[in-house]
Amino acid sequence: MQNGRAVEVIKSRRSIRSYLDIQIPDSDLNSILEAGLYAPSGKNRQPWRFLIIKDKNKIRQISKFTAYSRFMHNAPVLVLVYLASSGDYSIEKDILSIGACMQNILLAAAEKGYGSCVIGELYSLKLEIENMNHMEYKLICGICIGKSKEKEYGVEFKELQHFLLGVL
Ligand SMILES: Cc1cc2nc3c(=O)[nH]c(=O)nc-3n(C[C@H](O)[C@H](O)[C@H](O)COP(=O)(O)O)c2cc1C
Repeated sequence: MQNGRAVEVIKSRRSIRSYLDIQIPDSDLNSILEAGLYAPSGKNRQPWRFLIIKDKNKIRQISKFTAYSRFMHNAPVLVLVYLASSGDYSIEKDILSIGACMQNILLAAAEKGYGSCVIGELYSLKLEIENMNHMEYKLICGICIGKSKEKEYGVEFKELQHFLLGVL
C-alpha cells in the first residue's frame, strides 16, 4: 500500500546538523511552530512555551552549554522549548505532551524543506544569559532549524518485530 503524505514526511525526516547561512522567513517559522500547537496534550494543557532565538551571538552563547556548538552556532534559528508546569499535574505527562509538540514542529519543518535537530542536552539547564531563564518555566530542549547543507545522512532503523513485546 502507498504511504500517505504524512507518513512520507515522517519517514523521510532526518536530524540535520549542518545549515546554510540563510534566514528563515517569519511566515515559515510561525507556521512551523504553529504546527506544534496542534499536538495532543494531557488534559489539553498545552504546556509548551517557546523562546525564539535568531541573534547569532546568543545562539553561540547557548551552544557553549552543550557539546554541539560546532553545528548549533550555524543554525539561523534556535527555538528553546519550555514547560509550563503546575503542581496539580504530572510533569512526566506534560513532558510527553511536549514531545508530541516537538515532533509536530520537526515534521512541519521537514515538510517546508527545512532541516532541524533537537538539542536535548539543554534539558533543565540554567542558561546564564540575560532573559533566558524564566522562573516559572523549565527548559526542556532546543530545536535548531535551518536550510540543510547536508547531502547524505543515514540512520539505521530496526524492523517493527524488534520492538514488539507480543500480541495478546
Ligand atoms: C529527546 C531528543 C534529544 C536529542 N538530543 C540531541 C542532541 O542533544 N544533539 C544532537 O545532535 N541530536 C539530538 N537528538 C537527535 C537524535 O540524535 C536523532 O533523532 C537520532 O539519532 C535519530 O536520527 P534522526 O532524527 O535523523 O532520525 C535528540 C533527539 C531527541 C528526540
